Amino acid sequence: MSHQARILMCRPDFYGIEYEINPWMNTERPTDHATAVTQWSDLHRILNEHGARIELLPPVAGLPDLVFTANAALIYRDRAICSRFRHVQRQGEEQHDAAWLSANGFTVESLPDDHFFEGAGDALFCGDTLFAGYRMRSQAASHQLVAKRIGRRVIPLELVDPYYYHLDTCFCPLTQEMAAYYPGAFDDYGRKALAEYIPTLIEVDKDEARSFACNAVVVGSTVTTNTGCPFFHEQLRAMGFTPVATPLSEFVKAGGSAKCLTLRLDGEEAARWRTLNSILSE
Ligand code: ARG
Repeated sequence: MSHQARILMCRPDFYGIEYEINPWMNTERPTDHATAVTQWSDLHRILNEHGARIELLPPVAGLPDLVFTANAALIYRDRAICSRFRHVQRQGEEQHDAAWLSANGFTVESLPDDHFFEGAGDALFCGDTLFAGYRMRSQAASHQLVAKRIGRRVIPLELVDPYYYHLDTCFCPLTQEMAAYYPGAFDDYGRKALAEYIPTLIEVDKDEARSFACNAVVVGSTVTTNTGCPFFHEQLRAMGFTPVATPLSEFVKAGGSAKCLTLRLDGEEAARWRTLNSILSE
């Protein structure tokens, strides 16, 4: 039986632009609630139709960014290493994420005080290696600590462009040996490290990076992104993937898109992306 992806999402009932903690956010550019609900529901439906089981974190009034469940924790097997948000505006989310994860069978762990860490938004497995973005949100020291706890190699990547403040806005593992990335978000060292450890890298251009091409949800061979990434989708198609575009403009206003709205819960599987051939032969 093939493995079913488990994904955590949170309905956008209380979503909105209530503060500014990244360059995308502008409180004078509010979201349209009805459109946000439609866009979120479409993403939910698409992932469901492509075989993912979606679980729901209850929304909480006053926590507009709780919809971005990628930031709840890093999931590793049955362990959830919970986030410690850098910005006070998001710190209230921590207790809700931890409560849900613990009630749903995860062993919840946290990092020491003053160790900023923003979960799967900044720490992504490609194969067995954890690629970890730091500077704007998570700290390099947090990633070292996480890697030590789970006994995995970590490759720290400094994020140099404030528009790409989380690693998942500019880097997306596609299989255990293939990833997409936006080179402009990294320094020379980061680009070299990515090339050294990942055999096949797909480059996303500046315009499509701005449309959040790298913020893709990968379920088997289906890759779902915001609209406005036709060239990336063409590259994916040529490699045997099935790209799906769905409008997420209301979430881009907060600096997020498809992947930010999801958290893979199927622990070890999420850490062990299968090779493209095994995905395609299913
Ligand atoms: N407004 C949110 C923030 O700035 C967006 C989070 C997007 N999440 C992500 N995994 N990139 O924190």
